[in-house]
Amino acid sequence: MPTAQNQVVRFAKIPQPGPLTADVFSWEWQAMPEVAEGELLVRTIYLSIDAGSRAQLDDRSGYVIKAQPGKVLGSSGAVAEVVQSRHPDWQPGDLLATTLARWQSFQLVAPGRQLTARVNPADGPIAMHLGILGMVGFTAYIGIFEIGRPQPGETVLVSAAAGATGAAAGQFAKVAGARVVGIAGGASKCRLVKDEFGFDECIDYRAGDISESIARACPAGIDVYYENVGGEIQQAAFAHMNDFGRVAMCGQLAQYSGEGEAPGPNLMCTVLKRLTVRGFLAFDHMDRYQEFQQRATAWYREGKLRHHATVTAGLENIHDAVNSLTSGRNIGKQLCQVADEPKF
Ligand SMILES: NC(=O)c1ccc[n+]([C@@H]2O[C@H](COP(=O)([O-])OP(=O)(O)OC[C@H]3O[C@@H](n4cnc5c(N)ncnc54)[C@H](OP(=O)(O)O)[C@@H]3O)[C@@H](O)[C@H]2O)c1
Repeated sequence: MPTAQNQVVRFAKIPQPGPLTADVFSWEWQAMPEVAEGELLVRTIYLSIDAGSRAQLDDRSGYVIKAQPGKVLGSSGAVAEVVQSRHPDWQPGDLLATTLARWQSFQLVAPGRQLTARVNPADGPIAMHLGILGMVGFTAYIGIFEIGRPQPGETVLVSAAAGATGAAAGQFAKVAGARVVGIAGGASKCRLVKDEFGFDECIDYRAGDISESIARACPAGIDVYYENVGGEIQQAAFAHMNDFGRVAMCGQLAQYSGEGEAPGPNLMCTVLKRLTVRGFLAFDHMDRYQEFQQRATAWYREGKLRHHATVTAGLENIHDAVNSLTSGRNIGKQLCQVADEPKF
């Protein structure tokens, strides 16, 4: 095997606010990593690109992870093919999903030390293991079932509803028996949120007054708000919460591009309405990951969950894959495709 065939993306410099330019990253070829006992060398097929991929590049985002210039960046997961195995349970040609991955074309995976799930192409699109059945699905699962806990008939409002986490949150809330209303940018996205992801209603936040739209779409008020974006959408949603409502604080997309602080919520309404507002990080709940995978896989097989992905081809276009999220070009899970899927 030639030695320098592992393409690696390095974080070169802190970006200006707004869309990323290619020079924020640098690309290089490295020697293949050595595979230690118990490890696998895998060929990256899909890398998960997350809202956090942008937020980690800029201190102003207040994000949980802060990337350092000069480092190779990490991703919340990859779907990959084993090319070399020093682990008794894995053979070359096996497909897997791992929850930790680096922005490079080949990875070392240690199945005992990181979550590594077998991927069977007969179950559906292999990329869904980074979406509805992967970390974003798990995030939504925790936000809905651990934090929001909607009861049948209650109203759940989800922001960034056409994105990966929001679409999953809405679908889980439907499984819980709630009436689910999404918020997304644009009429075609809103149609898709209803037709593809099964939400009862969807509000186009770019058309008309957001507070009036929420009032119309949620005539009985909001019992659970699944919050992804912050800013004016958050302010309007809080104002329409019912007494004793629950807010699952998943993220604040509006501040991830370093374009200034978004307006905060009217916190007085949390007092008057006696709201429970709880932030969460999915990785604090990993003890529930197996339970999530079992239940979500069963729901997927029963036709209750849909997977949708937006794919940007090539590690050399990874900045564009990140920009797809912040500009709202993505529908469902944003991925960077690093290599072709094997022929099944
Ligand atoms: N707490 C956790 O453990 C955890 C884990 C994973 C993800 N998250 C959070 O989940 C959220 C979604 O992340 P994701 O990776 O799944 O991304 P995503 O929702 O697939 O993509 C981002 C979407 O957000 C919308 N958006 C972007 N900028 C916006 C703005 N300024 N105002 C309103 N909407 C905006 C865009 O849709 P429109 O076209 O509809 O605007 C875009 O498609 C993020 O807040 C992220 O931090 C949290």
